[in-house]
Amino acid sequence: MTTTVRTRVAIVGAGPAGLLLSHLLADAGIESVVVDQRTREQIESTIRAGILEQGTVEVLDSLGEHSRARTVGHRHDGIEMRFAGEGHRIDFPSLVGRSVWLYPQHEVLKDLIAARLAGGQDLRFGITVNGIEDAGTERPRVIATDADGQPLVIEADFVVGADGSRSVARPVVTGSAFGGYFREYPFAWFGILTEAPPSADELIYSNSPDGFALISQRSATVQRMYFQCDPDADTAAYSEAQLWEELQKRVPGTTLKEGPIFQRDVLRFRSFVAHELRKGRVAIVGDAAHTVPPTGAKGMNLAVADVILLNLALQALLLEGDERRIDDFADAARRRIWKAQHFSWWMTSMLHVTADATDFDRMRQLGELRSIVESEAGQTYLAEAYTGWPLATA
Ligand code: PHB
Repeated sequence: MTTTVRTRVAIVGAGPAGLLLSHLLADAGIESVVVDQRTREQIESTIRAGILEQGTVEVLDSLGEHSRARTVGHRHDGIEMRFAGEGHRIDFPSLVGRSVWLYPQHEVLKDLIAARLAGGQDLRFGITVNGIEDAGTERPRVIATDADGQPLVIEADFVVGADGSRSVARPVVTGSAFGGYFREYPFAWFGILTEAPPSADELIYSNSPDGFALISQRSATVQRMYFQCDPDADTAAYSEAQLWEELQKRVPGTTLKEGPIFQRDVLRFRSFVAHELRKGRVAIVGDAAHTVPPTGAKGMNLAVADVILLNLALQALLLEGDERRIDDFADAARRRIWKAQHFSWWMTSMLHVTADATDFDRMRQLGELRSIVESEAGQTYLAEAYTGWPLATA
């Protein structure tokens, strides 16, 4: 028996983009259904990045008591850029009057899910989406299979693909599974979580002859750190002592506080932007639409920026029948997406070391780093991009 559900906006994917969009739409009186293939437990426990732009935190404030970014998260007023054995602090408030918050993505997801369920949202886990039909009509449909293996059809006025980098919605919008601008990198990050006190108060982005390292935090007792590795690195191939050695040699000048390592993963680096972000009444947002390497900490923040634009466009379309904003959505979103792509690529290329780099390349890279940290204009560009460009308001 096929169950048919009717709603105004069908949202595929209960990640930050999908959940935030359903929240903003509900605030405007627009009903939606959110489906995700994963279980709630899987969604709430997947380890992802941790930096929120100030604008993202301000958007999350609208979750009221459910937002813990300011209480459980930590405000960071700067980062350290480390190279040639010296650290250089970039002070965000004095440069751009803004800050960022360290608050891991899975905590944001817990907040969003709690707020959506408290608001009576139709949020369904364990749903496999098989396809999206009739994108070119005013009644697009999501064709799915529910957690019990029964067919489920969601009829909507609009369908949003917020279903991540392996998006089912993307080929509907672009016409092919790979329809996009794409770049790969010859390195990856080896990430660890360790039970140890913080090694520094703020994040350290370190360029060293042995490659890049990022010293990040999670709490007073848990720390997150990464070091540049081969994309095919085997997480099991390193002893804990070897991992500390790899990390430590990439941050000369800082003594890392070591502890037991209880999680390890390899993050692959890709830059991707889909050729199209909307087809008729289907749009894609977040990782379904684009991927950035993690060096600029832009992934989740860019998803939030897409959602802010799409929310305004859907309100105009569904409440007033005004199509102008939805017609402009892709162009408006792309302006920020490509700035964030550039920033993420730039931070990546400036900080990592590649095996084929010549001595010239290496000296030029140090010159580039110096031209940023020794210049107020250079520091300001970095601070402006890192803390986030203004979000659309109306
Ligand atoms: C993290 O803490 O996981 C993190 C922070 C900054 C980045 C990437 C990851 O640029």
